[in-house]
Parts: sequence; structure tokens; C-alpha cells
Amino acid sequence: MKFVILRLRALVPLYRKTVGRVVQRLFQLDLIERTGNFADVRWLGTPVWQNVLDLWTIQEAISTVRPALLIECGTNRGGSATFYANLFDLMGGTRDHDRRRTGE
Ligand SMILES: C[S@@+](CC[C@H](N)C(=O)[O-])C[C@H]1O[C@@H](n2cnc3c(N)ncnc32)[C@H](O)[C@@H]1O
Repeated sequence: MKFVILRLRALVPLYRKTVGRVVQRLFQLDLIERTGNFADVRWLGTPVWQNVLDLWTIQEAISTVRPALLIECGTNRGGSATFYANLFDLMGGTRDHDRRRTGE
């Protein structure tokens, strides 16, 4: 068995050079489709089109960097904009949160 694994490992560079990227992309798309991934994510009732772990990581980055200004492009239905505005409130910042949808 160990021999087989070692032989397969030797093929990894070839796999990466040939079909690796396509397989990775298909896996990602299949995962999103099968799990619904972030389809039902909401922040205080407003839909957020984000992976929740990404939101958590973004929250950590914002609380570390403490930016004076955050501009979001691609607001969609406004959930993440509300999330960031609430985060800024919790950090004691001021905010000007425009949730009007003007298209993307
Ligand atoms: C993953 S969704 C996130 C939406 C929203 N920020 C949220 O968390 O609910 C990415 C959004 O960005 C938009 N988008 C993608 N490329 C864009 C671009 N070049 N300029 C503006 N919006 C873009 C998409 O239409 C989509 O609504």
C-alpha cells in the first residue's frame, strides 16, 4: 500500500500541470451546488451572499486593521453591507450606510 501511495505521489506534479486546475474548479462548483453553500446565509434577516467562514475572516481582518473607510463593490441585497456597518458600530466607529439598490 505504501508503495502505491508513493507511486501516486510521484504523479501529482503531472496531475497539476494537466487537469489539476479543471478538477479543482469542478470540485468547487460541485461543492457549492450540492451544499447550497451560502445560499441561505443571513445577517439579522438580510441575505448575505458570502461563505460564513469568509465573513468571519473578514471580520478578523477589519478588527485588526481598523480601517477608517470601507467601500463595498457588489452589495447585492445588502446583508454584508449591514454586517460591516454593524461591525464598525461595535468598534466604535461612525458609519454612513447606504442600502439603496442601484444595480451592480
Ligand atoms: C459573492 S457576491 C457578494 C454580495 C454581497 N457583498 C453579499 O455579501 O451579500 C459578489 C457580488 O459582487 C458582484 N460583482 C461581481 N463582479 C463585480 C464587479 N466587477 N463590480 C461590481 N460588482 C461585482 C456580483 O454581482 C455579486 O452580487
